[in-house]
Order: sequence, then structure tokens, then C-alpha cells
Amino acid sequence: MENQQKKYLIAIDGPSAAGKSTIARIIAQKLEYLYIDSGAMYRAIALKVIQHNLSLEKKDAIIALASETRIDLRPADDGCYVFLNGIDVSKKIRSPEISQVASQISVIPEVRKILVHAQQSLGRNGGVIMEGRDIGSKVFPDADLKIFLDASERTRAQRRFTENQKKNSSLSLVKTLHEIRQRDQRDRTREASPLIQTEDAIYLDSSGKNILQVVSEIIDRINCLK
Ligand code: DC
Repeated sequence: MENQQKKYLIAIDGPSAAGKSTIARIIAQKLEYLYIDSGAMYRAIALKVIQHNLSLEKKDAIIALASETRIDLRPADDGCYVFLNGIDVSKKIRSPEISQVASQISVIPEVRKILVHAQQSLGRNGGVIMEGRDIGSKVFPDADLKIFLDASERTRAQRRFTENQKKNSSLSLVKTLHEIRQRDQRDRTREASPLIQTEDAIYLDSSGKNILQVVSEIIDRINCLK
């Protein structure tokens, strides 16, 4: 473990496939922090919406579903396991379809309210690194360190494409780029807590950098916290 005394609350926000999960997970392992993937919670609700065959127009039904759903995040070597009402859905929630539906249901303010509340409880005691879209702006506006992690659209599409290929997805690079654009546009322009870089966040561009370079830049920043 690095020489860490106080356990801080670190927020990492940014667009999809900027490297947030990988980087946050490695930092959490190095510092023995709890890693929380807030997007996994939106994905879990999206999975439930699909399982219930609910139309995305049926906002009230989606809100009811979100309020009765229990989502547990448990640490794993490669991220976190996600349990939906006690069932492990960690792999299921990573499909391109779920990515789109998660982004679509995340525009509903009441769904956000339920998940933000759960995220705030998880991070209350510090020693947490949480990544998402609104962690620094809404979930933890007083986070000890806020990072806005970005990368060029091409870099992000290529990363997601490679990742999907490993999971045997047949989505082409062009389609992956299109999906990323569409999702980012929605996540940045929605009314409720859109993805923004807050004034006090540090902007990091991970294009052209390897994971460990970005990890060490962020750990340096954490070590400078007082
Ligand atoms: O981080 P991710 O790609 O797994 O997130 C999936 C979707 O969930 C993302 O497109 C928007 C939504 N999301 C959100 O609105 N707020 C968060 N803090 C995290 C994710």
C-alpha cells in the first residue's frame, strides 16, 4: 500500500471509454480504496427494464422498477461484481445494448435521484474512488479530488472496439464510434445532471498515454492532497 494516511474521496468523471473504470480500479487497488463504478448501477436498472420488456416511454414504471431494485456492488480483481436483487449480472450488463438503454434511462431525474442517494451512502466514509458522469458535479460536489478524464473520440472508439472484440461482439469500429457519439451527446445534453467538467476538476486527456501513466499522474495528485 502507498503511504496514505487520510482516506480521501476521489471523483472521476468523463465520457464513455475514456479509461475511467480501468484507471479507477487500479488506483483503488494500489491505495486500498473502495472502487465504485456508478455506471454499473444505471446498467443494472437498464437490464431490468429490458428483462421486463418495458418501453422507454413508460417512465413511471421505470421509476417504480428502480425504486424496488436492490443493487449490490462487491469488489472483484477486475472491477466490481454487480448483483441485481442478489443475482450476479456483472457480465450481462456490459453489452452495447445495455450501454444505450442505461444512457436512455439515466435522463430520468427520479431514477438519478434513487441512484445518487445510493452512491452517496456508499462513499460517505471516504477511502473511495467513484467514477461516472456526475460524481464531481452532483454526487460528491465536495470530493477531495475531481478528475475529468477525456480522450479523443477515435481513441475511445478504438478502445471500446478492442474491448468488445474480446467479448466476441460483432459491432464494427464505425458502428462503435457511432454508438459512442450518440451516447456522449445524450449524456452531455440531458437536463438532469449532464456530464460536465466542474471548475474545480483537473482535466486529463488519456489519448496517447498508457494506463499506468495516467494512474501515476492521478496518484501524484492524491499524494499532494492535504
Ligand atoms: O460509465 P458507463 O458507460 O458504464 O455508464 C453507462 C451509462 O450510465 C452512461 O451512458 C450514462 C449513465 N451514467 C450516468 O448518467 N451517470 C453516472 N454517474 C454514470 C453513468
